[in-house]
Amino acid sequence: MKRRDFLQQTGFGLAMVGASSFILRSDARPTPRSLDAAEAETIFSEVSGAGLDDLKPTVARDIGPFYRSGAPYRAKLTPPFEPGTVLVVSGRVWSFETKKPLPNAALDLWQVDNQTADYSAGNGDFKNRTRLTADESGAFEFETVHPIPYAPGPNFWRAPHIHFIATAAKHKQLVSEMFFKGDAKQDVDRLFHASLAVPIVKKSINGKEYETAVFDIVLEAEK
Ligand SMILES: [Fe+2]
Repeated sequence: MKRRDFLQQTGFGLAMVGASSFILRSDARPTPRSLDAAEAETIFSEVSGAGLDDLKPTVARDIGPFYRSGAPYRAKLTPPFEPGTVLVVSGRVWSFETKKPLPNAALDLWQVDNQTADYSAGNGDFKNRTRLTADESGAFEFETVHPIPYAPGPNFWRAPHIHFIATAAKHKQLVSEMFFKGDAKQDVDRLFHASLAVPIVKKSINGKEYETAVFDIVLEAEK
């Protein structure tokens, strides 16, 4: 494509009239767009096997003692080469009332360390903590390693989980946890909730196995 054609097709040509200092590389191409809301709804039905009328508000859990504000924005909780099984979690943030995805919803995520079974200090050390923003169709994706069970006290086990806070405009903020079906200790974790457990699907890439999970979040509108 000639550069002039490219400018005309993308609309950048007009933008450049008033921005002569902006130089577009001649081989540049528009970033592929994300799904729009209608496409997102179609995918929801295909993935979940359910209709949007089946959406229920995501069950809340206590925030617990380990949340720390100010985590960096990134789409990966763990440092590079963290031991453990790589887990890629994707999903969408939905409105219970409108049955539409919530554009630009924000997630704040934190999980236990797989070696020490501790949460990071969140004071200069934000290991295993992340904030991220969903796209214009409410979609998010992040990478981590499959969390481990831990015992916060005698006779008290926590099944593997990832804490999160979900925030979106005109909706109630939700604090909850993601669990994964089939994990250990779910039967003795009194904070476990079956509706928060999603299946793991194993995939492989470059000769190595990793896990994927889809966790959709449904928020209620502010009254
Ligand atoms: Fe926890």
